[in-house]
Amino acid sequence: MGRREIFLEEMGLGPVWRYRGKLGVAAPQEQAAELDWTGLKAAVAGCMACELHKTRNRTVFGVGDENADWLFVGEAPGADEDAMGEPFVGQAGKLLDNMLKSIGLKRGENVYIANVVKSRPPGNRNPLPGEIAACLPYLKRQIELIRPRLIVTLGKIASETLLGREATIASLRGKVHTYQGIPLIVTYHPAYLLRTLNDKAKAWEDLSLARETMQALPSGAPSHIS
Ligand code: URA
Repeated sequence: MGRREIFLEEMGLGPVWRYRGKLGVAAPQEQAAELDWTGLKAAVAGCMACELHKTRNRTVFGVGDENADWLFVGEAPGADEDAMGEPFVGQAGKLLDNMLKSIGLKRGENVYIANVVKSRPPGNRNPLPGEIAACLPYLKRQIELIRPRLIVTLGKIASETLLGREATIASLRGKVHTYQGIPLIVTYHPAYLLRTLNDKAKAWEDLSLARETMQALPSGAPSHIS
């Protein structure tokens, strides 16, 4: 440890994250698997693992019940989320809240909401593969800490990322997939549904499948990740 790190740690300000390539210490996202909630939040807040840190206003970690049965995963923050630091607070978020309500759920009550990417891609472009790869350890750790009983992925990026393969939403929805043994249901992204009202009925079917899947899980069964 260098003198600066020792000094900062003695001041209670450590650990100080540095990129392995430059200074011989692992980048924060590489250490995510070992972090508790506090460490993980700090690592995300200070992350500079991809170029998005240069243009974001704030990182968007995730929100909700850290012991939730339900985890909803979106893509990346938009302008509203970048300003507020909370996922799904814009128009798409209002629709997501209504989607939750339609199956008896409420943001923050047995529900956790996170994104694959924690910093806003400029101009709301799709996150690049390298940005997704850099951020994914954070989401994986969130899932390990939450231990949800069921995951709902919202849109193509979240679905492909957690399922580890390229596919259309149309081909993925209507089935129960798994992520690390956790049932995973795919549905449309709320922002897409705002533009494509005709697919709202399909999203309702997906949410009904999610609710039925949750109800069919053995009660009190421990969740999943071994
Ligand atoms: N779209 C997302 O995927 N996530 C957000 O937080 C907001 C919009």
